[in-house]
Amino acid sequence: MNINGKTRTCGLIGKPVEHTMSPVIHNTLAEELGINMVYVPFLVEENLKDAVQGAYALNLLGMNVTVPYKSEVLESLVVCDELAKKIGAVNTLVREEQGYKGYNTDMTGLYRAMKSYGIEIEGEKIIILGAGGAARAVAFLCLSYGAEKVYILNRSIEKAKAIATEVNEVMKREGIIAMTLEDYSRLPEEKMLCIQATSVGLAPNDGDAVITDEAFYKRIHTGYDLIYRPANTRFMQLVKEQGGKAYHGLKMLLYQGVEAFELWNQVTVSEELADKVYEVMKGVMKIEE
Ligand code: ATR
Repeated sequence: MNINGKTRTCGLIGKPVEHTMSPVIHNTLAEELGINMVYVPFLVEENLKDAVQGAYALNLLGMNVTVPYKSEVLESLVVCDELAKKIGAVNTLVREEQGYKGYNTDMTGLYRAMKSYGIEIEGEKIIILGAGGAARAVAFLCLSYGAEKVYILNRSIEKAKAIATEVNEVMKREGIIAMTLEDYSRLPEEKMLCIQATSVGLAPNDGDAVITDEAFYKRIHTGYDLIYRPANTRFMQLVKEQGGKAYHGLKMLLYQGVEAFELWNQVTVSEELADKVYEVMKGVMKIEE
């Protein structure tokens, strides 16, 4: 890395930021593409507005935003991408004339990660496990990209119903159906894609899944777990035991970064280069597959 007078800076705003993988992703991409850019973490204890204004004043090219600021940051934007606005969460700021434009590359990154595995959304019936912030964003993604039906299964039915009502209203169609976790026997009798969006199974409390019955997993041809630590969750194991394909969420993390990098630098990252960055990430995280 050769930092000089023309080096552009991007960074991550969040609390905490110590364990982020983003510097690995962006600094590897910059180096590989010969782009004069550095990426650094910025711990923002409070005063998010001041942080965003300060970043703009310091001529920062772009920012990522992580927990707990992904919703609050919408107040500091001059303009917001449509999907990100619908979701109500932004993880990427791109410098424009009067301020920053907001995007949600967590979701476009998830879409690209699934595409890289040959997983389709358009025209599909999809099961989402969970009804927290992540599940809500995934529900918007699925309907925005043309899923036929989305079944949201959650422990507390009220939260699943709230997402279904909201997403159906915003997307102007009855695409989402809310169910409890025990309701899976009422799902259509065909194999579907299932996206695991609960926190159950996440290290260090791994070894658990929200549904463990084999009968449920017989209905799944592909499972995508947003969790990547551990790299083989109980959910993934259960999917594979019934003959399905299963993937962890590390490629989602990769592609949310790739998409942000592309927006900041107006470049296209090739699949070969994305794979190379993925190998570096796996090395850092000690993940083998
Ligand atoms: P995030 O923002 O990452 O989505 P969240 O909003 O806290 O996190 O959502 C966590 C999700 O995991 C919820 O769907 C939650 O179910 P409830 O809405 O019923 O709480 C789900 N979850 C967490 N622990 C669970 C458990 N032990 N059994 C079943 N579901 C669980």
